[in-house]
Amino acid sequence: MAAGWGVKVSISVKEICSNGPVIPVIEIDDEANALPLVEALMAGGINVVEITLRTPQALPAIKAVSQIKGLHVGAGTLLSADDVKKAKAAGATFGVSPGSTAELIEACEGEALPFLPGAATPSEVANLKSHGFEIQKFFPAEAAGGRPMLKAIAGPLQEITFCPTGGVSPENANDYLALPNVICVGGSWIASRKLIKDQAWDIIEANAKAASALA
Ligand code: 3PG
Repeated sequence: MAAGWGVKVSISVKEICSNGPVIPVIEIDDEANALPLVEALMAGGINVVEITLRTPQALPAIKAVSQIKGLHVGAGTLLSADDVKKAKAAGATFGVSPGSTAELIEACEGEALPFLPGAATPSEVANLKSHGFEIQKFFPAEAAGGRPMLKAIAGPLQEITFCPTGGVSPENANDYLALPNVICVGGSWIASRKLIKDQAWDIIEANAKAASALA
């Protein structure tokens, strides 16, 4: 099914993270693959996607799909104010970062770009909370303590909900999603760099369908 085009509306981080159980984390090497990739994801029931700024083609890829009706494309791996400006200019409707800095927070505020910042420790979570971030990316999820860590911080930091990313897989995604302080998870398995390079759209669509069906 061909994707439609339409005017983008502003969306909150809560809406982005409530949209479905899994946000695909994308590394893309060829802008030309962006449209078929997104069509495969949307056919599989996913309409929120994070394209990481780790490849030269990431910004053109964001731009190529930014006007697709019903799709919310975020820019991931934001590391500087310049990244934020470029992401917004390319048409990203939200931003994601593996960590957080004052520069990033200010830049996202300045650009009115909804921001999902990363945290891995109670101090980082508390610091982001003091800036008003009640939804945070827990990264790198498995390496930073995984589900036991999220359970442990649920007591003292109970207002915060997380999108764990980094080491989340089809095998453990449901266990993360079962935690009360997990709103969604992120992961690259749905559309890995290799699957995109191979233009394996059928597999990506099937992965998206399976991910959408997670509890
Ligand atoms: C990332 O930013 O690379 C994400 O955390 C994806 O991690 P994954 O490849 O372990 O899903």
